[in-house]
Parts: sequence; structure tokens; C-alpha cells
Amino acid sequence: TPRVFSGIKPSGGLTLGNYLGAIKRFVQTQDAATHETIYCVADLHAITVWQDPKELHAATREVAAAFLASGIDPERSVLFNQSQVSQHAELAWIFNCVTRLGWMNRMTQFKEKAGKNAEAQSLGLYAYPSLMAADILLYHATHVPVGEDQKQHVELTRDIAAKFNHDYKVDLFPLPEPVIEGPAMRVMNLRDGTRKMSKSGESDMERINLTDDADTILRKFQKARTDPAPLPETVEGLQGRPEARNLVEIYAALAGIAPAEVLARHPGAGWGTFKPALAELAVETLSPVSREMARLMADPAEIDRLLARGAERARAIAAPVLSRTYEVVGLLRG
Ligand code: TYM
Repeated sequence: TPRVFSGIKPSGGLTLGNYLGAIKRFVQTQDAATHETIYCVADLHAITVWQDPKELHAATREVAAAFLASGIDPERSVLFNQSQVSQHAELAWIFNCVTRLGWMNRMTQFKEKAGKNAEAQSLGLYAYPSLMAADILLYHATHVPVGEDQKQHVELTRDIAAKFNHDYKVDLFPLPEPVIEGPAMRVMNLRDGTRKMSKSGESDMERINLTDDADTILRKFQKARTDPAPLPETVEGLQGRPEARNLVEIYAALAGIAPAEVLARHPGAGWGTFKPALAELAVETLSPVSREMARLMADPAEIDRLLARGAERARAIAAPVLSRTYEVVGLLRG
């Protein structure tokens, strides 16, 4: 059966980028019931940069709550946090011995995150794509829905799988496909249309958080940077207008329509009318999610119980795959 795997790091609040690029699509895939769906709160990934231990607990529950509040059903999907399934870390070690340094050195996300200070980064941040490959391949996942920024890591996962299969002359790991479809696969910063919207950007005005209230969302869209020209008639007219393109794509993804349709419904609209319409649509979509998240977060024990149950189901798939991998590699088991 085709199987979907994807994950989200609990490293600070979730953004509209995480919602449109990942969570919303995870729910659609689950509901389409064409694939088995496995979703993970990637806590081992989060600690590649410093996380306050107490905040990590809260952030892990918050990502779990976001999944649940958006419509992930822990019966129909497997939902768990990575560190409760020890096979992730174990397979990652095997992959560290398969992956070449030259491949890692090409990872653009590490370069961006490390900036000029690569020497001061953790080894974990550098090796992170190998852990991500373990996440995916442990379940023999065939499809990996991600935003544009994770594409290179899924491609590396294919290289790792292919080299493992080749070196050990087996056909153990299927090569997974990244699934990057639809508008808003790279939601941009509201203050700078050339940079990605991220959890860690310095100003809160540059992102929409899943937990922002209606007034905040309206204010952020109203202050979003744009050029002065009105919306173009056609999508070709968005060329060279990154901020305008971003807002149109966000609208399209929220409404579940194509960017061309957004332009057709708002012919030649100015920002004074388009921005409030966009904010209204965002509030309509996000406020039920944030309300339900708050309700779930009030009962952390219930979230923990669901995650533990999900981890049990994940282990049932992961354990035989890891055993088989150890056997292939020649690690002696009593
Ligand atoms: P993370 O936690 O940074 O982001 C989670 C998901 O959200 C997407 N995303 C965006 N999509 C569109 N526009 C944006 N501005 C934006 N920002 C984030 C990301 O592409 C991602 O899909 N390493 C991963 C988590 C992970 C994972 C995995 C993913 C761990 N193991 C296995 C897939 C498969 C990460 O840090 O994502």
C-alpha cells in the first residue's frame, strides 16, 4: 500500500506556512484514504538547536494539538512523537555510516541556518537530514508531503536509500517521492517577499501564527509589505511581484482554489480591499483550529495518552524494519 510519512518540529509556535505547506495537506491525504498516513512530532529534530526542556514539552504537545485540531484522527492516522520510537535514532546511526560528507555539505538549509558560524553549530544540526531519512524509510513510506524548503532533504533520503540498497545488495528501502503540490508551498515572510515565513524570524509581524487572534491576523495582513499596484488580471502579472504573489497564493491555498481564480474573483482589486478579504478568510480558517488547540491543551494528559498510543502503533511497523536492517548490515543479535 502507498504510505505517507511526514513530520513537524516542535521548535516554537506554528505558522501559516506550516499549516498550508503541511498540516492542511496531511488532513486532506488522511481524508482521501488513498494512503496509509503516519505523522510525527519531530522532537529529536527540534533539539538540534537549543530547546528549553520545559518549553519542549509544551511545544511537543502544541504540535500534537495542532494536528488534532486541524482534523488528524489518531485512529485513521498514526500520530506520535519521534523520541518515543527509539528505532528512529537507531536507524539514523546506520544512515550516518551510509551518507557521504559531500552530500551533507550540499544541504542548503544547513548553510542558511548556520550562516557564517558553521563551526559553532551542533553536529546534530548538520546530520539532521540523515535522521529525517531514517524517519521516512523506517516506515517504507512512498510519499512525503512537505513544503518546498524540505525538498532537498527528501531527495537526499532517496540517495541514502539507493546507496544502502546498492552497498548491501538488497531491495530493502523504497525510494520515496516528495509531494509538493498546489499554491503556498513556500509561504513568504509578510515583511520581505524574498524570505520564507518561519517560526524563528525575528519580528512577529512577519508571520501569522496558528494561535494569533482575529485582530492580530487583520493587523498583520494590513501591515504586510506590498508594491502599490493593484492585483493583476492574470497570474503572469504576478511575475517580479513577490509580495503580491505571496498574498494571492495564501488566499488561493486557504480557499482551495487556483491563484488564477483568486484574481478572477477580485478583478483589479486594490490592497485596501484585498487585504481585509484575505484576513477574513484566514480568520475563518484558523480560528476554529486555534480554539480547538486551546481546548486540547487544557488536558495535556489526554494528548500524552494519544501520543503514547500512537508510538505503540508506530513501533509495530518500525521494529521489524530496524531488525531487518541490522541483519542486513551484519550486526550480531543474540
Ligand atoms: P518544519 O518543522 O520546519 O516544518 C514543517 C512543515 O512545514 C513546512 N513549511 C512550510 N511550507 C510552506 N511555507 C513555509 N513558509 C513553510 N515553513 C515550513 C515544511 O516544509 C514542512 O513540511 N525536518 C522537517 C520535519 C521532519 C520531516 C521528517 C518532514 C522531520 N522528519 C520526515 C518530512 C519527513 C522540518 O524541520 O520541518
